[in-house]
Amino acid sequence: MIAPVISLRGRDFIDVADLEPGDLRHLLELARDIKAGRWTEKPLRGRHMAMLFQRPSHRTRVSFEVGIGRLGGATTTLTSQDVQLGFRESIADAARVLDRYVDGVIARLRSHGDLLELARFSEKPVINALTDHSHPCQVLADLLTLDELHGDLAHEHLVYIGDGNNIANSLIEASALAGFALTVITPPGYDPDQAVVERARSMNSGRHNVTLTSQIEVHDATAIYTDVWASMGQEDERAARQKAFSQYQVNQRLMDSAPNAVFMHCLPAHRGEEVTDEVIDGPRSVVFQQAENRLYAQMALMAELFAG
Ligand code: CP
Ligand code: NVA
Repeated sequence: MIAPVISLRGRDFIDVADLEPGDLRHLLELARDIKAGRWTEKPLRGRHMAMLFQRPSHRTRVSFEVGIGRLGGATTTLTSQDVQLGFRESIADAARVLDRYVDGVIARLRSHGDLLELARFSEKPVINALTDHSHPCQVLADLLTLDELHGDLAHEHLVYIGDGNNIANSLIEASALAGFALTVITPPGYDPDQAVVERARSMNSGRHNVTLTSQIEVHDATAIYTDVWASMGQEDERAARQKAFSQYQVNQRLMDSAPNAVFMHCLPAHRGEEVTDEVIDGPRSVVFQQAENRLYAQMALMAELFAG
């Protein structure tokens, strides 16, 4: 049996940067054991999780609900019609009420600031299920996928191409944590969060593993990752973004210039925009392995946060 990581017990999981390198190694090992059926404990038996969704979700909602069930727990899922955080009642009041019913909160909120506020007023662990700033649970699953595929995260050169959004921010934190090279290619004006970049560079103790550029150069990539050009909440900007990002599509020509790269996408994809059918359905696409791994990465995370 794998011993729990003491540092994660009872904690929130807001961002990838909340983890230490040892936590990450442990979570990936545990996730692989859960996936292989070598770890079948029920640390959530008798516990109940609230899931708050202010935005639509397929993968996140289903993988958390299934994962909590497999760990022995139960869930109540609330959409934006239900709690109406900050509108029907303040975030602080909602957090203090939920605390009296449930053992943990999994929240997909529009604003990262609101998530921090929820976590501040909640005594129970809060897990970030995506905000406008970050998507750490997705990136945990992505690291699990790369670990399964290639076996040594430190040797990855992940090239992210597209919008400098929540996925890009979490990948930047992941590159610092796991020590792999990351190139983020965005059109001018769509850079990732500068504070996240600076923090990652300082965590990398001068190795400067994060490169930001608008030049499309991918030849030595081990993975090429993209995401939608207009995220949830940016639907009105979709036409303008299609224009700004038109040169940044992952198509077969781009994949041909990176012969050793797998193709990654968090999904949902806007086929024909950031990626062509040929690439996402092609032999180097690992997008469904990423989606599957949401379940195991999150089960490992919850097993640690709710250990003991
Ligand atoms: N990747 C992801 O988080 O998918 P959903 O938005 O469907 O949950
Ligand atoms: N960047 C996307 C990710 C969806 C999982 C969004 O925020 O809509």
